[in-house]
Amino acid sequence: MHTTTESAAGAAASLEDIPAVDARGLVKRFGAVEAVAGVDLAIRQGEVVAFLGPNGAGKTTTIDMMLGLVAPDAGTVEVFGRSPRTAIAQGFVSAVLQTGGLLKDLTVRETVRLTASLFARTRPIDEVLERAGIRDIGDRLVGACSGGQQQRLRFAMALLSDPGLLILDEPTTGMDVEGRRSFWNAIRKDAARGRTVLFATHYLDEADEYADRIVLMSRGRIVADGTTAEIKNLVSGRIVHATLPGADPVALAALPGVEDVETTGDRIAVHTKDSDAVARHLLTSTAARDLEITAQNLESVFLALTAASAPASTPVEGVRS
Ligand SMILES: Nc1ncnc2c1ncn2[C@@H]1O[C@H](COP(=O)(O)OP(=O)(O)O)[C@@H](O)[C@H]1O
Ligand SMILES: [Mg+2]
Repeated sequence: MHTTTESAAGAAASLEDIPAVDARGLVKRFGAVEAVAGVDLAIRQGEVVAFLGPNGAGKTTTIDMMLGLVAPDAGTVEVFGRSPRTAIAQGFVSAVLQTGGLLKDLTVRETVRLTASLFARTRPIDEVLERAGIRDIGDRLVGACSGGQQQRLRFAMALLSDPGLLILDEPTTGMDVEGRRSFWNAIRKDAARGRTVLFATHYLDEADEYADRIVLMSRGRIVADGTTAEIKNLVSGRIVHATLPGADPVALAALPGVEDVETTGDRIAVHTKDSDAVARHLLTSTAARDLEITAQNLESVFLALTAASAPASTPVEGVRS
């Protein structure tokens, strides 16, 4: 008994320094499809990370490798310095997946109690219900719960082992706005106590609102990785459109703040962080006319960064990669 306690304490002391997730060179192929094409990702303890990307980007496959559900074809992944399976068995990580079957004829509380009976040690039932914001509906049948309430039930089940890392794969798909909001409020409140959270989403606003850091994935690769503030800076740019026959895209691209120049016939579109400078240049030093300045929305930046043509290695200004 004493030996167990001591080794647990020793493990806890050294635990502080290890990343919650340390993935290196992860690759996974399904036949000809390279679902994950070389992913390196380290997540520090306490971070709330959004794993953002369009459908088919490879988010779920990456998460499944972190959870030991899928074996990588190449690369390694450790969770709190352990193999994923060991980390799960030891209660270091829990997942909220969309696919977990719930029994409709049990109540919310019965469901959590049943799950708890599978573990040697758990947090108290009422505590996890409270944290997931569903204590008041403990007696409701699962079949009578809304989609959002069912997801909060899965969240409560995931909290039973008091995991250091919580992984959620598109947890709010299909929920209405209010359901999403209360679900994320519960997650966020819980994360404020220090839990590390990694959630996959294709909703830009969820990543924006609820994460400290956004890891943007496209076609099996990480194409941008930065704090939410850094990623937001990316989207603060504007697009300057003008008609300019014989435009010199290289010269335009060299202007300060310019990120991208597109030409379609005589029409140019200059993506820039400094639209004033570009407009001034176009109007004073070129024959440009019909100038128009539009804001880039989150959607357009997301599309730009995840477009097929964007080379995965292109460094994005102001963003770690
Ligand atoms: N079990 C599987 N068998 C075959 N192809 C798969 C399998 N799982 C995922 N894929 C393919 O791998 C790619 C990445 O899928 P996925 O990881 O589910 O992406 P995301 O979660 O970002 O939507 C997609 O092209 C998908 O069709
Ligand atoms: Mg997925």
